[in-house]
Amino acid sequence: MITEVENIGWEDRMASRTQRMKSSVIRELLKLTMRPDIISFAGGLPAPEFFPIREFDEACHHVLQTEGQVALQYSPTEGYPPLKEFLAEYMSKYGILVEPENILIVCGSQQGLDLLGKLFIEKDGCVVCSRPTYLGALQAWNAYEANFCSVDLDDQGMVVEQIPAIIKAGHTPRFVYVLPNFHNPAGTTLSEDRRNRLVEIAREHDLVIIEDDPYGELRYEGEDLTPIFRLAPERTIYLSTFSKTLAPGIRLAWVVAPKPLIQRLVQAKQGADLHTGTLVQMVANDICQRGILKQHVKRLRKVYHARRDTMLDAIEEHWPAEISYTRPAGGLFLWPRMPEAIDTEEFLERAVEEKVAYVPGFAFYPQGAGGHHAMRLNFSNASEEMINEGVYRMGVALKRELA
Ligand SMILES: Cc1ncc(COP(=O)(O)O)c(C=O)c1O
Repeated sequence: MITEVENIGWEDRMASRTQRMKSSVIRELLKLTMRPDIISFAGGLPAPEFFPIREFDEACHHVLQTEGQVALQYSPTEGYPPLKEFLAEYMSKYGILVEPENILIVCGSQQGLDLLGKLFIEKDGCVVCSRPTYLGALQAWNAYEANFCSVDLDDQGMVVEQIPAIIKAGHTPRFVYVLPNFHNPAGTTLSEDRRNRLVEIAREHDLVIIEDDPYGELRYEGEDLTPIFRLAPERTIYLSTFSKTLAPGIRLAWVVAPKPLIQRLVQAKQGADLHTGTLVQMVANDICQRGILKQHVKRLRKVYHARRDTMLDAIEEHWPAEISYTRPAGGLFLWPRMPEAIDTEEFLERAVEEKVAYVPGFAFYPQGAGGHHAMRLNFSNASEEMINEGVYRMGVALKRELA
């Protein structure tokens, strides 16, 4: 059996940079929360009962019947041209005006983040992000030995006004990483003022901006704000994904950037996987061309809006009043902040005893330096009934803890 062979010291053989690669707290947690008796608010998972399975079935059938030989063949690294054309047109409604040549199709935004790290980050290179920030970005860029220079986050999103102080302290940011809409984990949206301010700062200090926008389409109230890409197309790299609007299992996303950078990303992607699956791109294109994406997003907005409201109402009803939380206008997450007495990493054990799970806030901080009194709750993956029950159970445990 392979499990019984001698361990020849794999760790000592690895490149030194791999020391900073850790398995993500979330992925480990997700294993625990797979238990059917646990109500999990931990993952960032879409609601599987709304996956457009029939539509995928029809699209697969159609693509294989009509263009099977193309669908099962190698294809250009840049991506399937008709899908890129669709995306260029699709994004224009948000004021992102680009040509298909400005788009690279990738296997999930996560791959986009990794490729950008591969191109831009040198050992100890400064990456500006908010604290908290997206865990997957920390994971991807830790592998390239990034030095995360973080700034605060408040109700208006990332406090971009703190960026000049980082530069003044002697750092040269490789880029600024921004989650403009319905931040993961904090749920906040970067205000229009802050977007403009960020662009001014970036122009003044000649900075590159990475705008990671997986949730922009999932807005439940209010008006869309201006994409940063629109404000500064010369220095912004925009990423979006089908993970939250169609299905994450298809691993399909796209990067928008100036053409010289797309060329370099193409080279980086060739080294990683040659290209994103041809069949999956053609199937997604078929779904998009038939108008299903638009209808489906409309439906998801309705479902997630109701789930968000249920979670907010349940917290209001069942949790101690000293706990504060964001009211996100979209996305998938709430970010409750606890009194000092509750360490959310320790409290997780209590919550799991009550058969509820969440992600402790520290997981979203570079070097785990903070977030000990905050937690991320996901509201898209549980029914309204489960949300009520899970929030109630957590409320009981929180009250006991604070008593
Ligand atoms: C902010 C952010 N960026 C990127 C990703 C990765 O998305 P994808 O499934 O497209 O790799 C996620 C997924 O949760 C995310 O929240």
